[in-house]
Amino acid sequence: MFPSSIYKDRRNRLRNEVHPGLIFFPGNQEVSFNYPANTYAFRQDSNFLYFFGLDQPDLAGVMDLDSGKDILFGNDVEIDDIIWMGQQPSMKERGNQIGVEEALPMNKLEETLRGAIAAGRTVHFLPPYRGETIIQISELLGYPLAEIRNQPSDQLIRGVVKLRMKKDQLEIQEMENMVDVAWLMHTTAMKMARPGTLEKEIAGTIEGIALSQACGVSFPVILTINGQTLHNHYHGNILVPERMLVIDAGAESEYHYASDITRTVPVGGEFSQRQKEIYDIVLAANMAAIKAVKPGVFFRDIHLLTAREITRGLTALGIMKGDVDEAVGNGAHTMFFPHGLGHPIGLDVHDLEGLGENVVGYDQEIQRSKEFGLGFLRFGRKLQEHFVMTIEPGIYFIPELIDIWKTERKHTDFINYDVVESYKDFGGIRIEDDVLVTAKGSRVLGKPIPKTVDEIEAIMAE
Ligand code: GLY
Ligand code: MN
Repeated sequence: MFPSSIYKDRRNRLRNEVHPGLIFFPGNQEVSFNYPANTYAFRQDSNFLYFFGLDQPDLAGVMDLDSGKDILFGNDVEIDDIIWMGQQPSMKERGNQIGVEEALPMNKLEETLRGAIAAGRTVHFLPPYRGETIIQISELLGYPLAEIRNQPSDQLIRGVVKLRMKKDQLEIQEMENMVDVAWLMHTTAMKMARPGTLEKEIAGTIEGIALSQACGVSFPVILTINGQTLHNHYHGNILVPERMLVIDAGAESEYHYASDITRTVPVGGEFSQRQKEIYDIVLAANMAAIKAVKPGVFFRDIHLLTAREITRGLTALGIMKGDVDEAVGNGAHTMFFPHGLGHPIGLDVHDLEGLGENVVGYDQEIQRSKEFGLGFLRFGRKLQEHFVMTIEPGIYFIPELIDIWKTERKHTDFINYDVVESYKDFGGIRIEDDVLVTAKGSRVLGKPIPKTVDEIEAIMAE
């Protein structure tokens, strides 16, 4: 946990964003897996972590915006709990760890919230994403279940986004450390990527690294020789020589900050000429995007710059044709690069996504596109210093999508379908880094992970 002053300061800054009334932050509960007492690994809610820091289940935080008082709700352990889980700090002590003076038992929470509502005061809360929390809020506030999703406080959502988007030094250090763990995960995977190895042997090994060096993975490992499927969680294939392995994986720190890195490597350690050609286009797009990152630039413009880089490369190879700007303007490149350039990263790997992608990534200056491809861009607005974003361009040959577009004769002015046919067995390539927006530009977080063809081939040869 960070020093208590950090949490106090965050809550005080939130007070400037939301008023009047109360803010209710429910912490997460344990969630059953296959029978009641067998639970998933506990993960605290990221907003609770940010403002109330405590990493145990069955807690809640309330900020009274009118009196300026914060209250921690939770029960002290009793002897039955101590027998199973050992002695625990008292709620009073836990409150002290996060700069909260008042601690009350859980059974006072309903009275506090209902009392406020009865007095005509607003209870602000964020959109819940777990069934257990939706039921808890419904029961505590007395709102019908079906209405809970419509009740979250817009003011609170915007306030939390404003604060959490900008990472301080301690948060950046956490993320930097997690990229260092990802370095070990990725370089280990690269060395294991030999013909005959099972995807799951590598996936299991790198998840083990995340568990032994951090708090586990920051999202389920994506590791596949079928990289044309963007989020492929199937790990049952055997590595074969002509394929590439896409490894999209990161670690989560003890304080729950994420890294999210993707590398694509040739099975066996040497890129073929055809793989190298496509790889270098994705690499150039990744580097051009990182170079373009700085405060005041629309992330959508960097996404489009990346799209042009990809289109230029594919045109040079004869896979695409025509004018690059026109092709991108028409969205022809989206057959090969259908997703967005990246997303904010922090306590959540897709940071703050639970509060609504459009509130996080768009504003009055820029609206989300409804077009295929650009519409998948989670974040389009201007970058600010202290944002941390992923930069993850890719080129994919998705046979099913190619067949549909070809049949529909889509963008035939810009796509050479005859050439594309010969790439249908290619797979996909993605290269992803975690990038801090600095005062004048950007900085890629963490220990550099092999990224050029030469660097990858060199480490795979070790
Ligand atoms: N690394 C997975 C994602 O960004 O969606
Ligand atoms: Mn990502």
